[in-house]
Amino acid sequence: MPGGIRLQALTKTYGRVSAVDGVDLEVAVGEFVTVVGPSGSGKSTLLRLIAGLEAPDVGGVWIDGLDMSRVPPHRRSVALVFQDYALYPHLTVVENILFGLRVRRVPRAEARRQAGEAAEQLGLADVLDRYPDQLSGGQRQRVALARALVRAPSAYLLDEPLAGLDAQLRLSTRADLLALHRDLGATTVHVTHDQAEAMTLGDRVVIMAGGRIRQAGPPQEVYDRPADTFVAGFLGSPPMNIVPGGGVLGGGAATRVGVRPEDLRVDDDGPIETTLEAVESLGNETILVTRCADGTRLVARAAPRLGLAAGDPVRLCPDPERIHLFDANSGRRV
Ligand SMILES: Nc1ncnc2c1ncn2[C@@H]1O[C@H](COP(=O)(O)OP(=O)(O)OP(=O)(O)O)[C@@H](O)[C@H]1O
Ligand SMILES: [Mg+2]
Repeated sequence: MPGGIRLQALTKTYGRVSAVDGVDLEVAVGEFVTVVGPSGSGKSTLLRLIAGLEAPDVGGVWIDGLDMSRVPPHRRSVALVFQDYALYPHLTVVENILFGLRVRRVPRAEARRQAGEAAEQLGLADVLDRYPDQLSGGQRQRVALARALVRAPSAYLLDEPLAGLDAQLRLSTRADLLALHRDLGATTVHVTHDQAEAMTLGDRVVIMAGGRIRQAGPPQEVYDRPADTFVAGFLGSPPMNIVPGGGVLGGGAATRVGVRPEDLRVDDDGPIETTLEAVESLGNETILVTRCADGTRLVARAAPRLGLAAGDPVRLCPDPERIHLFDANSGRRV
């Protein structure tokens, strides 16, 4: 089937490290897939394999239905934007954007038109003649994106393109990226450390650990039905409470039981008796760190201005619909 990206049994080892380990993934035409996972889980290696900057030990990459095993990076129809968006310091913004087109030998007038259009889309029209060191971090990032944009590839591979930005710029550039994707509908694989970014941008979220895909699915689905304790603990902040079965959250002895902080309600008639160990007021909400009589620690997310303090007794009530059961040995959802 032509279109999109297909990865099959993709494997890359460096010495004894399995950077990417048997990854199967299909990204449909126009789909936006976000990839999250801890540092070293193989996210960048995965993108580099798709782009052809690394050759797999085993498995293959198909782009637009074509086997890429003998296709060098510059012949692959993908644009990779790196973590550290290297711009050429001696070239102006417009020259940086044009660089990709020069490589493809697009006629000059046409190239300038396309560059102008990309710059317009990313709010760079006023800074076309500046040099990179005369730009803010966010503008530099957008130049890197514009450079990828003008190449009009079959797919965009974005490796933490917003990582260097402060919180506000991240938010606005994230919105730009989302709008851009709506306009272009381009196939995109976007690596990020930022969960909010993964959840808001992705049609699907892929969670990686140790070079393997632990789960892939629509954002709400992976959040609501994590496939194992790793995914359960990785997505969500504060993370899900996961306790041994047969304890404060019930469940059988061979299970581990999880409940997210927002699914634990403060309730005077609640079944779980705890003592408050710490209260973190975030303005819009309060994070309660509690300790049960048997020593289990539970974190709950509550309304602001509760007037509670460390040492206070607090009763908690878990939402019975939102209890997660995992196999105690395999960690898989049961
Ligand atoms: N060129 C290389 N030589 C040796 N080991 C490498 C090389 N590139 C990556 N690795 C190793 O492969 C594993 C995966 O690295 P990768 O850069 O893909 O992780 P990542 O998920 O992108 O991490 P981060 O979130 O920190 O960017 C790590 O253990 C890393 O040390
Ligand atoms: Mg990386």
